[in-house]
Amino acid sequence: MALWGGRFAEPSDHDLRALNDSIGFDRRMWRQDIAGSMAYARAIAAAGIITREEAESILAGLEVVRGEFESGAFVFQAGDEDIHTAVERRLTELIGAVGGKLHTGRSRNDQVATDFRLWVMDAIDEIDGLLHSLQAALLEKAQAHTETLLPGYTHLQPAQPISVAHWLLSFFWMLARDRERLRDARRRTAVSPLGSGALAGTPFAIDRDQLAKTLGFDTCSSNSLDAVSDRDFAAETLFALALAGTHLSRLAEDVIIYSNPLFGFIALDDRYSTGSSLMPQKRNPDPLELARGKSGRLIGHLSGLMTTLKGLPSGYNKDLQEDKEALFDAVDTVKLLLPVLTAVIRTLKLDAEKMRAALGDDLLATDLADYLVKNGLPFRQAHHVVGQAVRAAQAAAARLSQLPLDSLRQLSPLFAEDVREVFDFDAAVARRSAAGGTAPSAVAQQIEAAKALLSR
Ligand code: ARG
Repeated sequence: MALWGGRFAEPSDHDLRALNDSIGFDRRMWRQDIAGSMAYARAIAAAGIITREEAESILAGLEVVRGEFESGAFVFQAGDEDIHTAVERRLTELIGAVGGKLHTGRSRNDQVATDFRLWVMDAIDEIDGLLHSLQAALLEKAQAHTETLLPGYTHLQPAQPISVAHWLLSFFWMLARDRERLRDARRRTAVSPLGSGALAGTPFAIDRDQLAKTLGFDTCSSNSLDAVSDRDFAAETLFALALAGTHLSRLAEDVIIYSNPLFGFIALDDRYSTGSSLMPQKRNPDPLELARGKSGRLIGHLSGLMTTLKGLPSGYNKDLQEDKEALFDAVDTVKLLLPVLTAVIRTLKLDAEKMRAALGDDLLATDLADYLVKNGLPFRQAHHVVGQAVRAAQAAAARLSQLPLDSLRQLSPLFAEDVREVFDFDAAVARRSAAGGTAPSAVAQQIEAAKALLSR
């Protein structure tokens, strides 16, 4: 039976029910719904709205309902519109009419906001742990490769040599910020709407602060109208997830490119790559393509919810029911991706020789310009001179380092015998030793900072 049948002479239409009911997806908040109801029963007992005995009976009944959900024995009925209805219906079956006292002063509007916030808080905690694991995998790989070099790219064109550690750790810091954003969103999620009623607050003397603390919230909301209609927390969490997904997508894209045989820097482990049904030679990076693909889905959920929220009038509106599937799916998606990506990083096989072979002399053109700068030429002029040298080498089908000193000196008299020393990739990397640079000495500091962050 619906929780609101009194004013209707006829039952709801079947098709209306299919549209209106949320039990199909909000049933996964059963744990939060029962916890919320238990805390609420205690609060209204403390306020003298129900007797101690009635509260005991409600708590015992809810404990049975919880057991049924836990063991999978809970049976949904045709009239169970949503999880709140289902729990209350079952409670009343178990303990009789006194079960109907639980909802005194409560609305599904404050109830659903409470359940959903609790669910989101738990989801954030879980995802934080998964992000931590991926960071740990990146850090571990990085530590083994502070002196393994590969070309660094801008515009996907070879730019300057960097270390594999530096490349991997760039994603470590992206994920660190994602975790911060999620933690920050959690702080604003941990505000209890319970005791806001339908919109105007409750006339009963409920200790809302105590109620909030019992449920694991940090505090209770300051405005009942805001509390029942606010879904900022869901939007913020979706944004943090969409941005984390974007970072995962970019990591995936790098690995996809580097595992292409034309690059050959990386080989994926058998367990984390897939084959082709037709072409026997293929090794496809499916999990990484899915990481890239699913980031679109995460961004879609964010823009979907934002669009739902933007025109709503004050108070609860049924549109808000759309919040849950978006967030549930975003959380499921991220939880599906992260363990696989973590394993992909752990099991990556890096081909140091291929990466080294991909380092062309051109990647040291900037260092060549810096050499001229050290010998007194303004950088703008040095840039021009080296550009001419690159062109001359290309015309002679020679490597930049093979240009005779005479040819270089025709471009600038500041070139001398010691210019040969510029053509050393390890030395070029080691020179980038200011904080945040790719030099092994700077990366060592980066690794210390990363370790400190992970152990916090
Ligand atoms: N299933 C609803 C939701 O997810 C619960 C709140 C219903 N409130 C109402 N006034 N109809 O938003």
